[in-house]
Amino acid sequence: MSRFYITTPIYYVNGEPHLGHAYTTIAADVLARYHRQKGDEVFFLTGTDEHGTKVAQAAAARGLTPRQHVDEMAPKFQRLAERVGASNDFFIRTTDAQHEAFVQGFVERLRAAGDIEKRTYGGLYCTACEGFWYERDLVDGKCPDHGIEPIWLEEENYFFLLSNYQERLRQFFLAHPDWVKPRSRYNEALSFIEQGLDDISISRSSITWGVPVPWDEEQVIYVWVDALINYLSALTYARPGEDLTATFWPAVHHLLAKDILKFHAVIWPALLMSAGYPLPVAEAIHGYLLMGGEKMSKTRGNVLDPFAVMDQYGIDPLRYYLMREVTFGQDGVISLEGFESRYTNELANELGNLVSRTVSMIEKYRAGTIPSAEGSAELALQAQNALAHMGERLDELEITAALEVLWDFVRRLNRYVEEEAPWKLAKDEALAGRLDEVLFSLAAGLRAVALGLYPFMPATATEILRRLGQPQDEAEGKRAGAAWTLALPAKVQAAPALFPRDLTAR
Ligand code: MSP
Repeated sequence: MSRFYITTPIYYVNGEPHLGHAYTTIAADVLARYHRQKGDEVFFLTGTDEHGTKVAQAAAARGLTPRQHVDEMAPKFQRLAERVGASNDFFIRTTDAQHEAFVQGFVERLRAAGDIEKRTYGGLYCTACEGFWYERDLVDGKCPDHGIEPIWLEEENYFFLLSNYQERLRQFFLAHPDWVKPRSRYNEALSFIEQGLDDISISRSSITWGVPVPWDEEQVIYVWVDALINYLSALTYARPGEDLTATFWPAVHHLLAKDILKFHAVIWPALLMSAGYPLPVAEAIHGYLLMGGEKMSKTRGNVLDPFAVMDQYGIDPLRYYLMREVTFGQDGVISLEGFESRYTNELANELGNLVSRTVSMIEKYRAGTIPSAEGSAELALQAQNALAHMGERLDELEITAALEVLWDFVRRLNRYVEEEAPWKLAKDEALAGRLDEVLFSLAAGLRAVALGLYPFMPATATEILRRLGQPQDEAEGKRAGAAWTLALPAKVQAAPALFPRDLTAR
């Protein structure tokens, strides 16, 4: 049995959760569910990043203390994770006392390694990034990511000697070309390293909302260092009385968007090297959800409220749409029109209709009992191939590609219905055996679809199995048999359309 540890970034609680946050959480959930289905031992972590200037400013703007603000905001992110169906094993908050203590221990290790120095530093700081920019990288004097003017920040801080790790990082990258996926992001991170790494300030004296530097209580630890360490700290207290570090580190896979590539692919591995931890297995970098041509972001104000979208369309359709529309690893434009079009064409017409037709034909021609037969050898092979290819794609963290493989099989089943025309076979008693084969094949094919669909649309997959009279926990990987089989005898269950065309009827 393998171990699989998957993380999302921990989200800033300076504003409401939006669809961009939901996207990464859903992608991580797809991978977590797929690995559980395979029988792997899985740990799935998400959470909130609650310290730093950005959060302190958001609290001040609301006339609240940072503590009041984060205690009000963090549960909204927790609810979002629950609402999108995330099966996370833990939800970390960087204000957890155990996390704070762990962070202090971690920076002590950096210091013991001789990688910390006190220096004065001034630079252009974007509070939205919580990071410094070089003047040459600004666009019209503004942060290229957030479109706001950075402020000049000058402080005496503790520095982490990132430059000490330049060569080790470069060697690590060269030895592990698949460490950062896709390759374009790997190249970006490697070229960043090769351009030369400056030491980075890892403490702040200008703010108090953070984890105190253990050897100097006048300073707090830089929010990004505090945040990155969550991936380790969570393992030490997620399960009371147990330390999961030896089990799940370094079997870790980080998911994130390209906005925070440098922090994860350059700074984080250097911190881990300094503190003496092995590096993660892989980092999968995805693109941006774009709305009206721009990155959807709280700072830009062009966000969609995921709760409202789910109220209207349901959870599984949203999961499907996001994973299908925004090719994992690339940017993708999303819109309500695009959503409705995929909902109608793919979910209602292709999948929903296939389920309704299969169930109603079995009811009509075989009194609701799935006939016992061998089924089409060709479809059996295609089902096996579809599930195997999906697995290969998901093992490579290529989520959209996996869904495309499944959909080709859904379309194949629809063509099979048209080719075999069971309504014609039913008219001729001499073709009863042939009709049995076709009905069995459709039910077996749909069962295979449900298994492949489960990581993406867990409730829908379970419902398809229920309608086919199949054990529902099979989708989670429990008792799952071969790709092509049915538990018989089984009675199908008719039920309303899986994806009603009239969305207001939901
Ligand atoms: N707190 C830091 C992360 C610390 S991780 C140790 C942070 N938080 S954030 O709230 O800004 O979240 C950024 C992440 O949210 C992105 O990397 C991505 O996972 C997700 N997304 C936010 N907006 C998004 C889009 N418009 N599109 C895709 N993903 C988006 O950065």
